[in-house]
Amino acid sequence: MTKPLDPLLAELEQFGQTNDRSSTERPRRMLNITRDTGELLAVLVRATAARRVLEIGTSNGYSTLWLASAARAIGGAVTTVELSEYKIGLATANFARSGLARYISLLHEDAGRVLRRSADGAFDLVFLDSERPEYPGWWPDLKRVLRPGGLLVVDNATSHRAEMAPFVALVTADVSFVTSLVPVGNGEFLAVKADQAWSDPT
Ligand SMILES: C[S@@+](CC[C@H](N)C(=O)[O-])C[C@H]1O[C@@H](n2cnc3c(N)ncnc32)[C@H](O)[C@@H]1O
Repeated sequence: MTKPLDPLLAELEQFGQTNDRSSTERPRRMLNITRDTGELLAVLVRATAARRVLEIGTSNGYSTLWLASAARAIGGAVTTVELSEYKIGLATANFARSGLARYISLLHEDAGRVLRRSADGAFDLVFLDSERPEYPGWWPDLKRVLRPGGLLVVDNATSHRAEMAPFVALVTADVSFVTSLVPVGNGEFLAVKADQAWSDPT
C-alpha cells in the first residue's frame, strides 16, 4: 500500500541524487540520509516513544520528514536546526507540501546556539547530521539536553569513520552512555543515556 508521504519522499530522493551528482559546492548539496536510514529513524522514534525530537542538520528536510511522520504518529513533534538560508527555503516548501508542517519547528540558527539554550532533558531523541568536526564541542550540551533514557543517533559513522572517531571515542568513554554502531545506510552511531531507574546504569 502506498503511504501518503511516499511520492514526496521518492521525489526528494531523486532530486537529492541528481542535485548532488551535479553540484560541486558542498553548501548546494543536499547530503540526505539513505532511505533505509529513514526507515530506521522511523522505527527508533516509535520504539522509544520519542515525542520530543531534535534534529541537527535539516538540509532540504528529507530526514525531517521521516522523523516528523513517526513523531506525529505517537503524538510528538520535531525541532530541526539549519544554518543555510538556501536550505531553509527548500525545507520550508517541502514541509508545506508534506502536510507535516504543524509537527515541525524549523530553526534558522547555529545548532551550537540552540543546544546551549535548550533545557536539561528537553529531548527524547536527538538526530545529529551536520558538520562532524563540531560534534566534540557540542557533546556536553548534547548529553545535557537528552533526557535520562534518551537516544542519540548520529549519521555517517561508517562513511566518515575517521572524522567521527574523536566524537565516538568521547561518547564511548562516557559511563553514562551505552553505544552501538548500526550498519544501516552510512552507518548510524547510537548512544542511549542512562536512567537512574535502570538497575545497571552503565
Ligand atoms: C548532511 S546535511 C543534513 C542532511 C539531512 N539531515 C537529510 O538527511 O536530509 C548537513 C546540514 O547541516 C547544516 N549545518 C552545518 N553546520 C550547521 C550548524 N552549525 N548549525 C545548523 N546547521 C548546520 C548544513 O547547512 C547542511 O544542510
